[in-house]
Amino acid sequence: SNPFPQYTREDVKKHTNPTDRIWVTYSGEVFDITDFVELHPGGKRILLAAGGALEPFWALYGVHKSEHVMEILQEYKVGVL
Ligand code: HEM
Repeated sequence: SNPFPQYTREDVKKHTNPTDRIWVTYSGEVFDITDFVELHPGGKRILLAAGGALEPFWALYGVHKSEHVMEILQEYKVGVL
């Protein structure tokens, strides 16, 4: 069974700032990326995805289609959709 809690997109939308934590989704998974924002090589642009899906942004910034980026993302997983 899946050890991660399940959330809705409405739940994710509530997490858009450091106080409430910053959540994003990717491929059916939910990530709390609050602690990664300051580490992001692409700077504050990462906040455009706060509370929603990464897919539309990563379609534009193909640099993310790498194993390295997927490994980083998995460190921040908190749930599934
Ligand atoms: C670069 C991770 C979200 C825009 C990068 C790189 C990583 C990364 C590891 C360096 C890639 C490399 O050089 O090999 C992430 C993670 C994200 C995220 C884990 C979400 C949790 C976003 C979003 C945007 C974005 C939402 C745009 C709206 C960029 C840009 C670069 C970049 C423009 C290139 C920076 C440069 O080389 O100057 N990101 N990113 N990223 N990211 Fe993100």
